[in-house]
Amino acid sequence: MAGTVLRTPTLHTERLRLRPFRDDDAEALFALQSNAHVLRFWDSPPWTERDRAQAFIERCRELAEDGTGVRLAVDRLDDGAFLGWCGLTGWNPDFRSAGLGYCFAEVAWGQGYATETARAVLRWAYATMDLNRVQSETDTRNVASARVLEKLGFVREGTLRQDCIVNGDVSDSWVYGLLASDWEVPSRIANSLQ
Ligand SMILES: CC(C)(COP(=O)(O)OP(=O)(O)OC[C@H]1O[C@@H](n2cnc3c(N)ncnc32)[C@H](O)[C@@H]1OP(=O)(O)O)[C@@H](O)C(=O)NCCC(=O)NCCS
Repeated sequence: MAGTVLRTPTLHTERLRLRPFRDDDAEALFALQSNAHVLRFWDSPPWTERDRAQAFIERCRELAEDGTGVRLAVDRLDDGAFLGWCGLTGWNPDFRSAGLGYCFAEVAWGQGYATETARAVLRWAYATMDLNRVQSETDTRNVASARVLEKLGFVREGTLRQDCIVNGDVSDSWVYGLLASDWEVPSRIANSLQ
């Protein structure tokens, strides 16, 4: 159906460029997703095989083609460094809903990059899609990710008990939701202040 697919954009923010993945991102992507500290609250173990990176990039292309999601690589504008990625996936045109996820390299943490990235993705999605609900789950120990979601206006809706078991480590998840109505009111206020 026309108008109901997610089309992968290139977006710019004050400090970042968000763009489709390229084959030559594989090395940096593998370094990110194989880092046990970065992945300590992830819902699957760190990668151990390099071909996972190529498969991930291939999957990004499939998402772009079938229109069910976007995954964007994030570069710093200053020096072009690959910092991480952000995805809006699982687009359901009937429910007008999708899921948000992101992962950034440790050197990039604590500088507002994840929030800046996700805000740009959500702004684009709400402006171009007939999107209502965005959902994100985070390990209850992942305080930084919960904070990112709350800064964006997501509401913590509940706890998924023993949601993940990764290498025998059982963890609970918080489920967060953002509705178009949650997004539009603060956006209108921000726009009126610009
Ligand atoms: C979670 C993650 C995306 C955050 O990225 P980031 O660029 O550091 O996020 P931001 O700088 O935009 O915001 C982080 C916020 O969390 C806060 N924070 C970070 N660690 C914290 C801690 N231990 N306790 C309390 N607050 C913390 C920061 O102070 C900041 O909030 P503030 O702006 O109010 O000061 C990043 O750590 C990451 O990629 N982790 C690995 C992958 C991952 O866990 N992804 C999410 C899966 S759901």
